[in-house]
Amino acid sequence: MHVLGLGFFSMSKRTVLTGITTTGTPHLGNYVGAIKPCILASNDTDVQSYFFLADYHALVKNSDPARMCQSTLEIAASWLALGLDTETAVFYRQSDIPEILELTWILTCSTAKGLMNRAHAYKAAVQENLQAGEDPDYAIKLGLFSYPVLMAADILMFNSSHVPVGKDQVQHLEMARDIAQRFNHHYGELFTLPEAVINEHVAVLPGQDGRKMSKSYNNTIPLWLPEKALRKAIMKIVTNSLEPGQEKDPEDSALFTIYAAFANQDQRDSMRQAYRDGIAWGAAKQQTFELINEELKPSREHYEALMAEPEQIEEILLAGAQKARAHAVPFLSRIRSAVGIRTLG
Ligand code: TRP
Repeated sequence: MHVLGLGFFSMSKRTVLTGITTTGTPHLGNYVGAIKPCILASNDTDVQSYFFLADYHALVKNSDPARMCQSTLEIAASWLALGLDTETAVFYRQSDIPEILELTWILTCSTAKGLMNRAHAYKAAVQENLQAGEDPDYAIKLGLFSYPVLMAADILMFNSSHVPVGKDQVQHLEMARDIAQRFNHHYGELFTLPEAVINEHVAVLPGQDGRKMSKSYNNTIPLWLPEKALRKAIMKIVTNSLEPGQEKDPEDSALFTIYAAFANQDQRDSMRQAYRDGIAWGAAKQQTFELINEELKPSREHYEALMAEPEQIEEILLAGAQKARAHAVPFLSRIRSAVGIRTLG
C-alpha cells in the first residue's frame, strides 16, 4: 500500500488507473473522496491516467437494467462536467473493452481458488448466510466470488503502477499483485505489480447522520441536487442541541467536517473560530450550503447540459475505448501468445 504523501509527486512517470462501479448516483462523498482528487491528479504531466466505468463490476450487485444504464450516464456526465480532460486521461467504459474479459479468463485459470476464498466481500456474505442459518453459499453469485480477478484484469491490462482506491479495496489490490506475480513467474514478466494509493489527505466525508457518507447508510447528499434541494439536504445534517451563543466543538461535528472538505485554509480557520464563538447551527449550515453551492454551481450547469445529450457522452466514451484498446489489443495478443494461444504454423 502506498500512502500518498508529498514525495509521491516527485516520482517519475506513472500509470494511474481507477474504476468507478456504476451502481448509483454520485454524491458529495464520491466527489470529495474520488472524483475531485483523481481529476486534479490527472492534470499532472508525469501521469498517464486511466479512469473507467466499471459496469461489469456493477452487474454483480445490480440486476436492474435501467439503473445500470442510468448510473453509467450520471457518473460519466459527472466526471466530464467536473472538468476531466479526456485528451490527457483515457476515460472509458469497461464493457467497451472486450479484451478485459478475455484477460479475466486467462487470469482465472492461474488464480488459486483459495485466494478468492479469503476475499472480505465473499467472506462477509458467507458469514451472513451462516448467521441466518442458511447454506454458506446461499444466493452468492459466482461473479461476487471472482470479482477480484476481474478487477486484477482491469488493472494489469494497462500495466497500472498506482491505483487510487478506498481502504475497502486494499485487499483487492493485494490480490491483483498476487495474481500478477504468479502469472509473471510462470509465463514471463508481462505485468507491472500495482500499488494501492490511499490518499490520507482526503477526508472521508460524513453523511447527514454523521456516519461515513455511503449509499448503504442511506445518508448521502447527491452531488447534483438543484440549489434548493441541496440547501434542504444540508439543513438536515445532524447537529447537537447547543444554542446560538454556546461554544461548539468543530472537531466533533459532521457539519464542520463537511464544510472543511470544501474550504480553503483561511475559511477553515475562520469557521473553526466561529464554532468557538458560538455560531448558531442554522447559520453554520447556511454558510456550508453557500460554500458547496459556489463550488458546484458552474459544473452543475455543464452536468445538466451533458445529461440532455447522452449521445455526446456515448461518443466521448467510445473515443476513450478506442484509445484504451490501442493498448489492450496488442498487449492481449502478447499475453495470449505467452500462454500458448498462438497462430499455428
Ligand atoms: N471495485 C472497485 C470499487 O468498488 C471498483 C473497481 C473496479 C476498481 N475495477 C477497478 C478500482 C480497478 C480500481 C481499479 O471501488
